[in-house]
Amino acid sequence: TAPTSVRLAVIPGDGIGPEVVNEGLKVLNAAVGNEVSFETTEYDLGARLWHKTGETLPDSVLAEIRQHDVILLGAIGDPGVPSGVLERGLLLRLRFTLDHYVNLRPARLYPGVTSPLAPHVLENGLDFVVVREGTEGPYVGNGGAVRTGTPHEIATEVSVNTAFGIDRVVRDAFRRAAARPRKHLTLVHKHNVLTHAGHLWRRTVEAVNAEFPDVTTDYLHVDAATIFMVQNPGRFDVIVTDNLFGDIITDIAGAIAGGIGLAASGNINPDRSAAPSMFEPVHGSAPDIAGQGKADPTATVLSVGMLLEHIGLDKAAQKVEQAVAEDLAARGDRVRTTSEIGEAIASRLA
Ligand code: NAI
Ligand code: MG
Repeated sequence: TAPTSVRLAVIPGDGIGPEVVNEGLKVLNAAVGNEVSFETTEYDLGARLWHKTGETLPDSVLAEIRQHDVILLGAIGDPGVPSGVLERGLLLRLRFTLDHYVNLRPARLYPGVTSPLAPHVLENGLDFVVVREGTEGPYVGNGGAVRTGTPHEIATEVSVNTAFGIDRVVRDAFRRAAARPRKHLTLVHKHNVLTHAGHLWRRTVEAVNAEFPDVTTDYLHVDAATIFMVQNPGRFDVIVTDNLFGDIITDIAGAIAGGIGLAASGNINPDRSAAPSMFEPVHGSAPDIAGQGKADPTATVLSVGMLLEHIGLDKAAQKVEQAVAEDLAARGDRVRTTSEIGEAIASRLA
């Protein structure tokens, strides 16, 4: 059922983050009109806060953010902050503590958008979604280093895979596959080499498949998946994969579907009441073009569409996607500023 009021936490972040979020919110407001009241709280997290206080995500702020229904994030990252500080301290901390176990990344080639792939490769279309596990795998920080800086240094980075964690993300992927016309799910892993984790993933997919008999499944090693993604992306419908593999293949997916300016994502906790999910463009803070009005806000606008769908505002979500599709079809080679693109999409919703 559609909500009548929504508490939205906004984290504009660094670089182009505030610029693209501004346009995302314009489109959100145009899409929901007066039907739903959005109560928006903005949080100034990222490089500015770190430079001011040395903090990335104070506990009190995290507790406040938890009280919201959903989060919209721009981008985090700044050349003046040591690498990893904001990524681990803010972005990953949000994803882990809010238990965003589904990292959802759709890849769809909209009419009017140029893919770097040759036309004959795209004969079977390009419309798939990657369900990337978001809370386990090699990204949990389970590791350490000893004898650092010596020739005898040892560094470990242990991939953590739990039956519980795999089961819940695989189930989510099956549900999404079952709701799509082609009803096909591909498991991507590397179970010939990473046998321990790989076999757990494979057995889990087999077991859950019994509950979704309409869904067909297949399996690809991650290296083979990269070949198919550039030689026949039309074979994919829903992909389920672990945290690291998902990170890598979704960059390819973004590139073949028209580039970083269009790639949207959701960090989702499907057990809606447990914690707010977070929607954000895949791209980073792009310090090279920040403050110049050059950033394409479309990835953020599409992320807003995913956000609306997640909170049950399906009609508004469809309107956003439709408006983006129309804008992309009419876009051509025109160079427009960030706000010109945002205005153009929003005005199609008015
Ligand atoms: P980036 O995605 O910020 O930029 C890569 C290239 O794409 C740049 O040339 C940039 O100008 C361009 N680009 C990115 N978004 C664009 C947009 N909307 N429109 C037009 N062009 C766009 O990745 P980069 O340069 O590796 O990282 C910059 C900072 O962002 C780093 O601090 C990094 O850690 C952080 N980062 C943060 C992410 C997040 O907040 N989720 C994701 C990726 C990187
Ligand atoms: Mg990445």
